[in-house]
Amino acid sequence: MNPGSIIIFASGTGSNAQKIIDFFRNDPAVRISLIVSNKAGAGVLGIAEREGIPTLLIEKERFFQGDAYVDVLSAYQPSLIVLAGFLWKLPPALVKAFPQKIINIHPALLPNYGGKGMYGHFVHEAVINAKEPESGITIHYVDELYDHGEYIFQTRVPVAPDDTAETLARKVLKLEHEHFPRVIQSLLLTQPVQ
Ligand code: GRF
Repeated sequence: MNPGSIIIFASGTGSNAQKIIDFFRNDPAVRISLIVSNKAGAGVLGIAEREGIPTLLIEKERFFQGDAYVDVLSAYQPSLIVLAGFLWKLPPALVKAFPQKIINIHPALLPNYGGKGMYGHFVHEAVINAKEPESGITIHYVDELYDHGEYIFQTRVPVAPDDTAETLARKVLKLEHEHFPRVIQSLLLTQPVQ
């Protein structure tokens, strides 16, 4: 059986990418075949270097007005394309090229606290300001809209009265690290691996 090939897209630190790499490290059937970023110097690119994983630094022009790197990405025959903190919306050409193969993790309970501009600390500040009793994570398929595709997994965490955006961010990131790799594994097991 061909090994499951995962491509990770990330714009920042890459702590989720690191957890995914660690989770599949000893799994001969799954490999992280490429790490894509839109930010030169992003922490995730340093992780890729250290892990010996090929990287692709994408440019806005080609991504949104050009071929969206579809051929480059297809060459890796990805079973899944995983957005782990990737801050650009995907161009329709890319979404269309990999139907039901692109997933994203959002640090809140969609459909609330999602959409354009709702990322990182902005999400947690909005949840704290709204005095929500709980928050959580949503893992979902990606379509042409921000944070909009079919949900795959959600889990919750209580928001304590003394929580700040920072303490809530830490709680939510812990959930991401705990669940994202396992959800990816379950998706790989349920879909035809190329
Ligand atoms: C996470 O909070 C995730 O929910 C969001 O972007 C962040 C990624 O963090 N999509 P990291 O780069 O994986 O540390």
